[in-house]
Amino acid sequence: MAEFVVVANRLPVDLVTGEDGEQHWQAAPGGLVSALAPTLAARTGAWVGWPGVPDAAPEPFGDDTIGPDVTLHPVPLDADEIAAHYEGAANATLWPLYHDLIATPVYDRSWWSVHRTVNERFAAATADVADEGATVWVQDYQLQLVPRMLRERRPDLRIGFFLHIPFPPVELFQQLPWRSEVVDGLLGADLVGFHTPGGAANFRWLAQRLCGAEVDDGPIGLRTAGGEIRLGGRTTRVGAFPISIDSAAFARRGEDPSTADRARALRAELGDPATVLLGVDRLDYTKGIGVRLEAFSELLDTGRLDPATTVLVQVATPSRERVDAYRRTREEVERTVGRINGEHAGIGRPVVHYVHRSLPPDELAALYLAADVALVTPLRDGMNLVAKEYVATRPDDGGDLVLSEFTGAAEELTEARLVNPHDLDGVAAAIADAAAEVGSDASRRRMSALGAQVAEHDVARWAEAFLGALG
Ligand code: ADP
Ligand code: G6P
Repeated sequence: MAEFVVVANRLPVDLVTGEDGEQHWQAAPGGLVSALAPTLAARTGAWVGWPGVPDAAPEPFGDDTIGPDVTLHPVPLDADEIAAHYEGAANATLWPLYHDLIATPVYDRSWWSVHRTVNERFAAATADVADEGATVWVQDYQLQLVPRMLRERRPDLRIGFFLHIPFPPVELFQQLPWRSEVVDGLLGADLVGFHTPGGAANFRWLAQRLCGAEVDDGPIGLRTAGGEIRLGGRTTRVGAFPISIDSAAFARRGEDPSTADRARALRAELGDPATVLLGVDRLDYTKGIGVRLEAFSELLDTGRLDPATTVLVQVATPSRERVDAYRRTREEVERTVGRINGEHAGIGRPVVHYVHRSLPPDELAALYLAADVALVTPLRDGMNLVAKEYVATRPDDGGDLVLSEFTGAAEELTEARLVNPHDLDGVAAAIADAAAEVGSDASRRRMSALGAQVAEHDVARWAEAFLGALG
């Protein structure tokens, strides 16, 4: 039994089958795991989640990637449940709805019914591992029904919920046929955390309208629980808790001479260009990979960037590959990369280096160090940890960051070159300016301010603020 339990759709490790046919565990993708792994490593407890493949139901186990005092509790899903809950309700309904309808959400009743069953299974598994009076921290949009289901089984628990993606404008949220169920599900928690005060305010408004809750109308706290929502004799508090990274760990990697050596070697492998631009993302339509490719293409077409001296490295982790909108995004990205290289590459000298793989942490750090400009251009993103990882890795205040206004990170990283990703001219101008000013005093001053922000507000502070407010 555990006194502290994290519940997330995924375990921090996925069960994968290697080329030799043997199964092994490998770090799971995405920002949720990146942020929570160091948080849980510093504590004793349990992590309840799906092992990432159909029907796998291993016994609870420990894993070195998280730490010796954390037990991982697998929740099995069969292939039909993965299709309806994970690929369907979570990633073809909620994900696009919460990301401003960049793709059109599908509202499918049979998916939702499986989604409910899977949320029940997570609640039951958590109720089984949580000690009397334990603190349970439920994560993200896939498990919004769990707080209420868990409270009904275990009223003794202290339950927090954190949403890692944006909470949408109320007009969009109201499209959801199961909108009251979702809001009521979240109100089973004692504390519901969002990245931004705006998301928390939207949720509070909906709790009043859809569930008849009584609410405070004061300002929403930043890194504290502000607003109170009262329903059925209980109080749920809400607050904004912008998530972050293990900044010191990234800084240490950035300062390690072996990272600098690898960064130099990478630049040499790229043909020692004058300017290296970098994108690092899960391959997701929210990330605006197409936006930055189009802006780069225009800069080459118009001669504002020279293909002989500039390269763009785009690293894209495969993601949700059975969901239609993701398949289409991959096709579009790969077609555009092909077109740009077709028009501007020399023989043996691509201008866009596209890697459709996940990279190990050391290699990623070397790329961050090697890149003159990081391009983070999502159409919508809850936070975006890549932006923070990039600035934290640069020990020299070198580099530059082009950052979409439509990320949670933009509310904190105000010294970045902020762009509207829908304004292609603006994105192109920011990239051109950043490339022209590499190493300038102005860009160093900005990177220094960004580095200080990320160093101060790291993921440990995020977790302490949330768990402190949860009590
Ligand atoms: P999201 O959670 O939507 O995937 P974030 O930017 O918040 O977006 O977090 C992404 C995380 O995944 C970061 O920690 C980043 O380092 C990691 N990541 C993204 N792409 C890759 C890649 N190709 N290889 C390794 N790690 C990656
Ligand atoms: C984002 C979501 C996480 C999710 C991750 C990876 O970070 O907020 O909840 O786990 O992406 O996506 P996946 O679908 O592979 O779990």
